[in-house]
Amino acid sequence: MKVTFTTKQKVGTADKMLYGHFLEHFHRQIYGGVYDPTSKFADEDGFRTDVIEALKRIKTPIIRWPGGCYVSAYDWKKGVGKKRRVNYDKAWEVEESNEFGTDEFIKLCRKIGCEPYICTNGGTGTAEEMSDWVEYCNLKDMGEYAKQRKENGYEEPHNVKYWSVGNENWGIHEIGEKDSNEWGNLVREASKMMVRVDPTIELSAASIVDLDWNIKLLTKAGPYLDWLSIHSYWEWGPDGLKNHDYKELMLLTGEEIVSNIDRVRAYLKALGYENKIKIAYDEWNLRGWYHPNSNMPMTTDERRKINEEFYEKEVLEQRNKNDINETYTMTDAVFSAAFLNTCLRNCDIVKMACFSPVVNTRGAIFTHKDGLVFRPQYFVFELYSNLLKDTVLKTWSENVPTMNGKINNKERTVDTVDIAITYGDGEYAVAATNKDPENEQTVEFDTLDGNVSMMRIHTLNGPSTESYNDIDRTEVGITVSEWVPFDGKATLAPHSVNVIELK
Ligand code: AHR
Repeated sequence: MKVTFTTKQKVGTADKMLYGHFLEHFHRQIYGGVYDPTSKFADEDGFRTDVIEALKRIKTPIIRWPGGCYVSAYDWKKGVGKKRRVNYDKAWEVEESNEFGTDEFIKLCRKIGCEPYICTNGGTGTAEEMSDWVEYCNLKDMGEYAKQRKENGYEEPHNVKYWSVGNENWGIHEIGEKDSNEWGNLVREASKMMVRVDPTIELSAASIVDLDWNIKLLTKAGPYLDWLSIHSYWEWGPDGLKNHDYKELMLLTGEEIVSNIDRVRAYLKALGYENKIKIAYDEWNLRGWYHPNSNMPMTTDERRKINEEFYEKEVLEQRNKNDINETYTMTDAVFSAAFLNTCLRNCDIVKMACFSPVVNTRGAIFTHKDGLVFRPQYFVFELYSNLLKDTVLKTWSENVPTMNGKINNKERTVDTVDIAITYGDGEYAVAATNKDPENEQTVEFDTLDGNVSMMRIHTLNGPSTESYNDIDRTEVGITVSEWVPFDGKATLAPHSVNVIELK
């Protein structure tokens, strides 16, 4: 295949927040993940220093917290102050100690060097409670909540810039599900109050790729919004840990990522917000989290069948299957690179993306008592956040090889090589993923500016599409070639993620 590009044809600026992450009070993400005072890696605040270092290594730009479904019944006031009130987490049906709350989250972000992004409770929460949270974090000392923050030992405001109203309140699986009218009204009233507390915040609202939902949301609350939040998971685990093989996953995901972005772009354009409101893909992962027999709605009769023993065995213990590192393979890395490439090719409107989640569950990092396992997805962030440049160029491709097949009874086709070209400081950094499970692919690069003489390739790979890392097992990692004279083309290994430096 051949790719043509020039610095004169740009898509836009790739915001570093495309390499963001998500952290929820679920399973071992908080307790036993980022926060574990009993760990030998714990610092004076109980945070795991090895996790903090790993997140700094991939230049984590932003972390969204505290949920996710968890937040839709979360009372933030229980998670601040000297005396924390425990509560029953109605989303995940476990006890929450509230030992980790707003101030701990802010402290964690400061140590990592990333922006905090707070998602508020649009389920049982009210506009008043959401704006009280902004008061607590961002007012210097006016009103009750800023004074509480100071009493809690934080003299200066936390200055949280990014806020979201609600999480997936469009769905029956969410506590506090709403219809599009209710949602537009709540987002408008919450936004008005939050922005009156601190007009410098940037506001997002939970959205979905649905016309009616966006028409109501944007006509009612569009003037108050800076972002629309959308979420996608492609391989759901409720009926099993892995439901599709490599090729099926490539076919399943190929077209849908870009169509989701195109449809939200169309809604924004139709309502006149294309140049005002950006897309935050603030939960994404190839794999949905594994939590059978919970979260999705159950009728009372169904819930009554879940007795103590069943709950222990078929709900709580099942969640530990997210910890099976063999699940996360080069398949996850190839998908994650293709997802980020799609965001880069649409970086004029997609300005944030949060991998879901950052640690444990389906995350890029797995914690255990003696250290960390870096799952294949982790290295995609290491390559992209450290090597890609700020400007994304348009590309013209010819003779692109494709993978074809039928999945869910629908013919699907996906480009075998997935490319995004970035430019900066007089050099190019090309994100190039080869989805072909068996064959290498050679790509010819025609840089119309004709200013390239040297090339170096950083390759993330393992022996097969199913290669994975685990405790005392490292099959997947990054290799770097020498700088070599650039002869106009590069060869990509099968099922590999690459960043090609051209200068
Ligand atoms: O499976 C985890 C859930 O996925 C998150 O809590 C929610 O935001 C999404 O539906």
